[in-house]
Amino acid sequence: MKADVLLGLQWGDEGKGKVVDVLTTNYDVIARFQGGPNAGHSLEFNNIKHVLHTIPSGVFHSDKINIIGNGVVIDPITFATEIEALKKMGVNLEKTLKISKKAHLILPSHRELDAASEASKGKAKIGSTLKGIGPTYMDKTGRNGLRVGDTIRIDFHERYNSLKNKHKDILKQYNYNSNIEQHEDAWFKGIEVMKQFELIDSEVAINELLNNGKRFLAEGAQGSLLDIDFGSYPYVTSSNTVCAGACTGLGIAPSRIGEVLGIFKAYCTRVGSGPFPTEQENPTGEEMRKIGFEFGATTGRPRRCGWLDLVALKYAIMLNGVTALIMTKADVLDTFDSIKIATAYKVNGNITNTMPFEIDVPIEPIYQEFKGWKTDITNMKKEAELPVSLIEYIKFIETETGIPITIVSVGPGRDATIIRN
Ligand code: GDP
Ligand code: IMO
Ligand code: MG
Repeated sequence: MKADVLLGLQWGDEGKGKVVDVLTTNYDVIARFQGGPNAGHSLEFNNIKHVLHTIPSGVFHSDKINIIGNGVVIDPITFATEIEALKKMGVNLEKTLKISKKAHLILPSHRELDAASEASKGKAKIGSTLKGIGPTYMDKTGRNGLRVGDTIRIDFHERYNSLKNKHKDILKQYNYNSNIEQHEDAWFKGIEVMKQFELIDSEVAINELLNNGKRFLAEGAQGSLLDIDFGSYPYVTSSNTVCAGACTGLGIAPSRIGEVLGIFKAYCTRVGSGPFPTEQENPTGEEMRKIGFEFGATTGRPRRCGWLDLVALKYAIMLNGVTALIMTKADVLDTFDSIKIATAYKVNGNITNTMPFEIDVPIEPIYQEFKGWKTDITNMKKEAELPVSLIEYIKFIETETGIPITIVSVGPGRDATIIRN
């Protein structure tokens, strides 16, 4: 079998959690391959609303295996809180959730380093979620990190202290008022919670599962425009969010990637700093935020809102080799008289269809305008019910990108999902 990958094509929060939960019925295994508790994946069903951060979005289907892959960074404190919340809901994962021994650990000092680094940047701050993501990946590539598998070594505490002390020296240079010890008790308790799960050589286990014909879905976090290599650097996250990240973050060969399901909102949002060409800092953007309830699932920050950006979307499709598109939140535009899509940029007086390297050049989007459908689509269940103007909007995106939109999500709940032919 091949592994399918579902990933965000914008700046995150495209609705990955909701759609992975819906698609889990078609799979045996769900695996996260990068990111960590910076992610907030929301799921809604049977009047339950839940947000997952580190744990894959397949966990509400009791017969599925969920894997946290080697590319993920795990904060034991957040992890234990997530497990506790799921237990309270009657979801017990001890037999079905597996954790890669090679996943890196976020220490309390990584979180402080994240905060110190952001504070030192002043106005140029990234807008990090302050979950310690950047410093943890820095220690991974700097070959200093601690991994899940290290927790069972007898010298684990020594290694922990050695890394913590390194961090303390750096924090001194930042003049940061450090308070690491306050979090250590919860952190070590979180490590014990993690040890209740099977710690595995996930790359071997995953390839065996695929050899045994198991249907496998890799769940991305963040979005392609936040990718460390291809996003608007430095206003990005610290992992490869694109499809290639599923290969390195799970140990799957590129030839074993099957369908690449690219998910996008019918408009755009971004939380944190960085360029956002189609941003609407006006009543239109405020309307999108209000109707779409665009506030961060992890930090609660208001999300910046704007029109769909086809230049960026096509770039993301190219990077990922997307084979099918999934469009969410079209319902948020139900009341809009007219809807715009950016089809090109004007940069330094020139029309371009590519993402500029410079992140500080003024970009003027060139828009195509569409008639709003002015219909409540939230209870629609079949494509045939969708208003003509929305179908035109969908067909335009399909024609421009050359990729079919196979799912249209019309609400946060599991049922609000229209599967197209
Ligand atoms: P993720 O990070 O990609 O999983 O997305 P988030 O959960 O951070 O943000 C998506 C938000 O939109 C959540 O509040 C979802 O419940 C909600 N959502 C998902 N799909 C739809 C949709 O089609 N319509 C509406 N109105 N909300 C949706
Ligand atoms: P999900 O998986 C939206 C953004 C932050 C910031 C930048 C770097 O829910 O789509 P980091 O904490 O990673 O160092 O922050 O990336 N960011 C996200 N934005 N959704 C996310 O995850 C995000 N994870 C990180 O806001 O701009
Ligand atoms: Mg999110």
